Amino acid sequence: MLIALLPGDGIGPEVIAQARRVLDALGLDGVTYQEAAVGGAAYKASGHPLPPETLDLARRADAILFGAVGDPACDMLERHLRPEQAILGLRKELALFANLRPAKLFPELASESALRPEIAAQIDMMIVRELNGDVYFGEKGMRKTADGKREGYDIMSYNEDEVRRIAHVGFKTAMARNGRLCSVDKANVLETSQLWRDVVTETAAEYPSVQLSHMYVDNCAMQLVRAPGQFDVIVTGNLFGDILSDQASMCAGSIGMLPSASLDKAGKGLYEPIHGSAPDIAGQGKANPLAMILSAAMMLRYSLGHPAAADRVEAAVAGALAGGARSGDLGGSMSTSEMGNAVLAAL
Ligand code: NAD
Ligand code: IPM
Ligand code: MN
Repeated sequence: MLIALLPGDGIGPEVIAQARRVLDALGLDGVTYQEAAVGGAAYKASGHPLPPETLDLARRADAILFGAVGDPACDMLERHLRPEQAILGLRKELALFANLRPAKLFPELASESALRPEIAAQIDMMIVRELNGDVYFGEKGMRKTADGKREGYDIMSYNEDEVRRIAHVGFKTAMARNGRLCSVDKANVLETSQLWRDVVTETAAEYPSVQLSHMYVDNCAMQLVRAPGQFDVIVTGNLFGDILSDQASMCAGSIGMLPSASLDKAGKGLYEPIHGSAPDIAGQGKANPLAMILSAAMMLRYSLGHPAAADRVEAAVAGALAGGARSGDLGGSMSTSEMGNAVLAAL
């Protein structure tokens, strides 16, 4: 089994180093690692955020462990050269269309949630985010209006096949959990969302045991803080899923806690925390590595066929938290490597 390690920018390399220590401690047979540059680091080294060697490694690998990309120094580059294009390119090139973002409260973190502890305690949901379409990948550009004003535009669209394939993932995920699926859209305003709602509703006929509901995205943002326990599985588009998952992370304690898996139709996956390169704390040893470590656990479960090892890693994270391990985002002062030490000790 070959694992591609793509550390990227900012805190990406810092958190991936801790995930690697945990993976090494598991002593799995036959797992090899190969590292490549991605994002701003790759642009600085070779002039492109997703160099051909990196894409080739990602294609060859059985699974990809991805840190984060993004560098303020690159924000003025032409869009196709910006670090973020690396992750968007990997998702698109490898057809990683299904992004699973579990948000669950570790009971030890109830007091870190932005919500009251008794409300936070209910959080246990999976956000299924579509990753290959929507306004992210439509035609975009800058133009001039008839009267010479600058205008930016981005086309939002989904075709029915794109909606259907993610709807199936949503329904199957709900069947494997508590049987409730909430599809989130903005069908009261957007045609893209009307098609989304129509296709999800049609697909429901194949899953009679799943209880399907629909919710507008603005209401969903509100319900996530009012009563997050009502959600089992949420299925939504690329843009809404991006925003709602950051919100859910803070309800569950910290953005430094939420892992993700981005899967293709055969189950090949890229695993990354939902957070970014955090330039404000990069290089200071302050980043919480738990989202990255939990992403490695998802990799063990979904791509490497090691569910028992995944359970062990997740239990070790819980153990570290129970033992009081807290980085700055969790109200403590432990460094990135001290957090890694705590997980290793619990393992
Ligand atoms: P961010 O997620 O990087 O940071 C938001 C805030 O959360 C910051 O205050 C940061 O310090 C904090 N934070 C994030 N992760 C943390 C962790 N593990 N431990 C402790 N604190 C943490 O989002 P942003 O600031 O909006 O974006 C910064 C850069 O990252 C941008 O260039 C953006 O495009 C990029 N980004 C990349 C990804 C990715 O690689 N998948 C995801 C999101 C953002
Ligand atoms: C994420 C990030 C990315 C996204 C950016 C960096 C392109 O915010 O993975 O959540 O918007 O998908
Ligand atoms: Mn995001």
